[in-house]
Amino acid sequence: MASTLALNVRKPPTITRLPRRPDPRQDRVMDLRRDVALGARLAVMRAGGLAMAAAGDPVLRLLHRPWIDDPTSVHRQLLQGPQPYASRTGVLVVATHALCRDLVRDRRFLVRPRDGGSLGGSVAGARDPLLEPVDLSFLGMDPPEHTRLRRLVGGWFTPARVEAYEPLVVRLAERLVDDAVRRERFDLVAAVATPLPVAVIAELLGVPDEHAASFARWGRSVGAGLGGVRSARALHRLDAAVGELRGLLGDLLARRRHDPSDDLLSHLAAQDADVEETISLAALLLLAGFETTSTLLGNAVAAMTDAREPWARLAADPARAADAVEESLRFDAPIRFTARTPHETVSLGERDVAPDTVVLAMLGAAGHDPAVHADPDVFDLDRPTRGEHLAFSGGIHYCLGAPLARLEARVALAALAERMPTLHRTRGAVRRRSLLLRSYLRLPVAA
Ligand code: HEM
Repeated sequence: MASTLALNVRKPPTITRLPRRPDPRQDRVMDLRRDVALGARLAVMRAGGLAMAAAGDPVLRLLHRPWIDDPTSVHRQLLQGPQPYASRTGVLVVATHALCRDLVRDRRFLVRPRDGGSLGGSVAGARDPLLEPVDLSFLGMDPPEHTRLRRLVGGWFTPARVEAYEPLVVRLAERLVDDAVRRERFDLVAAVATPLPVAVIAELLGVPDEHAASFARWGRSVGAGLGGVRSARALHRLDAAVGELRGLLGDLLARRRHDPSDDLLSHLAAQDADVEETISLAALLLLAGFETTSTLLGNAVAAMTDAREPWARLAADPARAADAVEESLRFDAPIRFTARTPHETVSLGERDVAPDTVVLAMLGAAGHDPAVHADPDVFDLDRPTRGEHLAFSGGIHYCLGAPLARLEARVALAALAERMPTLHRTRGAVRRRSLLLRSYLRLPVAA
């Protein structure tokens, strides 16, 4: 997904990759130079972004107020515009359900440009640390590597296998919700939406309890950087968090190699795979599954309690939680977009797309396409088309964790609605300023 944040904002200066030298003073000078280059590049991107948003570019509007809080008008602008729409950021954008679906399913559209670098800007054919601060394992790979690595873990996320986790998810969700109810006023993100997916993925991977808090902290900082970084300091913090997370996963994998258990890390340790590659794969499962699920829970509660009626109906019949999850994924997709590029000229909608051109599929806007959903801007628990969304993308990168995310969200929403039928927002909600994730950082509520 990070590979998708590839807005080609007017050819920014590239970062010079400097070789490491033994003299620490030299290192500090090099780091400083790198930071200055990085800061300049970010400033160019920010200034360009603001100007283009003000001039009406819908992609950049999604990063700025007031559209960050309410993207309805941007969705309409995108859906009514030409398909694909040529954004001034240099990327093409499709927003209709049909074209987004075609783009993610079409095997001629890939996640890497021809030189193997990052979409929208490569550093000499390598991953660009600004556009892609984190190695996203097979999410950022094309076949055949994608196929090989996805197969290694695919069997762990089938609906049947995930069903076996239901008792664990119920236990964890009920404990968190009971604790929250006792406090009466709480931040939904900190109290339930964040700790639940972290605890579930830690359990699935086999991260021991004593590391759970660090695991959550790293997941949070790395997840926050998925959509790109905003400063040199943020990139350093992210690098540090990634380093610590990889260190823990590396230690655990080494231990499981000698002393296996029945968890996913033991399964990975038993494969004859490259160690760094295996660590990246394990980290992907944390990163792809944590902020996204947390985001879904926050968005679902906010949308339903704001509209009131859907929450009251869910409280009266918590068995509707699965419908609430699908309608929320349609109404407020956690991941706004993904990106692809062709290696040959491919026609898409009204245009021929040249090789290496970045095309964004606006998954969030597609959920509001009136050609598929009547009254798309209304949250409707009974909507017959609620399941026809692209929140989990499609094609070969279709979200591996979709059954797990659905299970967690269903169980948590049912528990919340059952115990807190009059749940409502209080003041102080904070939205994340990210183009990639549409989420709340804080969502204060009262039971
Ligand atoms: C509501 C929660 C979630 C949402 C909205 C979501 C969304 C997505 C999307 C949109 C993609 C595809 C991106 C693309 O096409 O480029 C994706 C891929 C992926 N997701 Fe999820 N995800 C969620 C939860 C999870 C969970 C819980 C896990 C695992 C624990 C997970 C693991 C993955 C993995 C491994 C991929 C890469 C698949 C591939 O490249 O083949 N996700 N997710």
